[in-house]
Amino acid sequence: MATSQRKILVTSALPYANGPIHLGHMLEYIQTDIWARFQKLRGHECHYICADDAHGTPIMLKAQQLGLAPEEMIAQVQKEHEQDFADFNIAFDNFHSTHSDENRALASDIYLKLRDGGYIKSRTISQLFDPEKSMFLPDRFVKGTCPKCKSVDQYGDNCDNCGATYSPTDLIDPKSAVSGATPVMKDSEHFFFDLPTFEEMLKEWTRSGSLQQEMANKLGEWFDQGLQQWDISRDAPYFGFEIPDAPGKFFYVWLDAPIGYMGSFKNLCDKRDDLNFDDFWAKDSTAEVYHFIGKDIVYFHSLFWPAMLEGAGYRKPNSVYAHGYVTVNGAKMSKSKGTFIKARTYLDNLNPEYLRYYYAAKLSSRIDDLDLNLEDFAQRVNSDLVGKLVNLASRTAGFISKRFDGKLAQVEDQSLTELFLAKQETIAQFYETREFGKAMREIMALADIANGYVADAAPWQLIKQDDKQQEAHQVCSNALNLFRILVTYLKPVLPQLAKDVEGFLQLTLTWNDLGRDLSGHEIAPFKALMQRVEMKDIEAIIAASTENLQVTEAPKSQLELDPISEEISFDDFAKLDLRIARIAKAEHVPEANKLLKLQLDLGGETKQVFAGIKSAYAPEDLEGKLTVMVANLAPRKMRFGMSEGMVLAAGPGKKDLWILEPHEGAQPGMRVK
Ligand code: MSP
Ligand code: ZN
Repeated sequence: MATSQRKILVTSALPYANGPIHLGHMLEYIQTDIWARFQKLRGHECHYICADDAHGTPIMLKAQQLGLAPEEMIAQVQKEHEQDFADFNIAFDNFHSTHSDENRALASDIYLKLRDGGYIKSRTISQLFDPEKSMFLPDRFVKGTCPKCKSVDQYGDNCDNCGATYSPTDLIDPKSAVSGATPVMKDSEHFFFDLPTFEEMLKEWTRSGSLQQEMANKLGEWFDQGLQQWDISRDAPYFGFEIPDAPGKFFYVWLDAPIGYMGSFKNLCDKRDDLNFDDFWAKDSTAEVYHFIGKDIVYFHSLFWPAMLEGAGYRKPNSVYAHGYVTVNGAKMSKSKGTFIKARTYLDNLNPEYLRYYYAAKLSSRIDDLDLNLEDFAQRVNSDLVGKLVNLASRTAGFISKRFDGKLAQVEDQSLTELFLAKQETIAQFYETREFGKAMREIMALADIANGYVADAAPWQLIKQDDKQQEAHQVCSNALNLFRILVTYLKPVLPQLAKDVEGFLQLTLTWNDLGRDLSGHEIAPFKALMQRVEMKDIEAIIAASTENLQVTEAPKSQLELDPISEEISFDDFAKLDLRIARIAKAEHVPEANKLLKLQLDLGGETKQVFAGIKSAYAPEDLEGKLTVMVANLAPRKMRFGMSEGMVLAAGPGKKDLWILEPHEGAQPGMRVK
């Protein structure tokens, strides 16, 4: 390896602890994880740190809604987040919470240093207040009519309909989204961080850092607009840290959130003897610090955060790397389209490494949005990973096991190996600069070459000829060595596949060992490494993501909601004995919430049926009416007596239920066919 060992601290943004991880979030954790794994694979000291972001009004209110203490809710969510990340093979060195002792201590320490440095000002401001809930309302918790286009039910900060931005006091007829009360204006003292003092330092940091061009441009615009004082306090009730010298005032969630990076790292240092917090965060630290974030939170990370660190006497990050937003099938992730896909829903259906590969193949160092096109996803995974990569081993390994005692030959022609190894610095450079898409293309171009070589040499034909055994051995050994190099290159992206291949090749894949000689090396029998993605798996994900929709979301046709069942034969149908029945008697069942007890007259015989239609029908409305029943259904013993059939009804339930009634003239007992 060319360079000496680096010390690197890398973070992903801290996910909010009030909702599940979805595939949009996963772009960030996958991107950072690949980068961190790459650094480790190259032999550097790299620590990948994250935590849940546990504070703020939305989290406080969500916990209230669920009837939980915020501490209980965030603990539960953190568990789910950690499981999702683990199952996506995200290898955090530490995952903590911003609601932690370490973070409380660091947030106080930084705040007090800023205050003593003269960077905290206080002033009284007037804000919307919910008189019923006795709380100040963040912009997002005020709704009303847009002052520009007059469309109703718009948030306090901007209008979804016309895009206008305004302050919540401009809304017509504002209402608290928490209680529905009309908010009033109320004064309160707030603390402000003096961002404008840091303008020169921030400009210098922008020039010297390795910021993305788009981010530097954005910062330039913000400098031109003029930096503002930043409001860092919130009044009780608030779920967060109380400000040390100001009872009843709390740090705004975005003050202690980035400090959570340090808090989580501190927590790791306390668990490990070989790690020192100051080596990474002291002003004179020579370690590297990088934050991976989404484009929506650039302001916090490139202005407030470096300024806070500077003001409190800590080092600043070397860089902040922003990525774009994930869209699915070309559009914003949407609950009604079933494209708001939770990490868990994906994991229930597909191998996490497919998504890791797809995101890698589409990622660049830029801030562009990234489209997860599900058909393209299936195709790309099937053609690259299954068709090119795994195929290389699956069509050569068997011969080694069956014909050559599982031992690899000394490969005479080293030209392909040399070609593959010559690419290592190019590929490493692409990983280093977050040009993962370019790295994947280089690697797949090599896979194509290797497959072309195997196809031309056709070991499956050589193996049938007595005098070509040695040649077959050469070709298969060569192919497996090339496969080893490819999987090493892909190890940051496909850690599980790499692990399985390490088992199969019986060696550890490391960058330093890329040039290793496999002559005489024994391998284990080949086992299937990866399945194809089937469209049915993707359909299952969409279907599961469409469940539990609220009625307000996108209307759907009945058949979309409930597709027609699998085809049956006429004989299957003929097994059903449907009869016209007269409802001779209908009565309530004491203790049963949903059931009515019906006596159905079939013209001679009477059957008793318990039907779950109480929410839609009063007994007296049913007596005397004709309906259709399943007459040959096996009787079922219920708590209230025997049920000897079923009446037929349609509808989603509750008030919306309609039982069938034949046209006039039909007689009790007639078969329906
Ligand atoms: N809690 C803050 C971050 C604090 S960092 C000190 C936050 N949380 S978040 O849960 O909303 O988002 C976490 C990360 O996921 C952010 O970097 C965000 O940009 C990213 N993404 C959320 N939705 C995304 C997509 N649809 N696509 C790509 N990234 C997305 O912001
Ligand atoms: Zn509007």
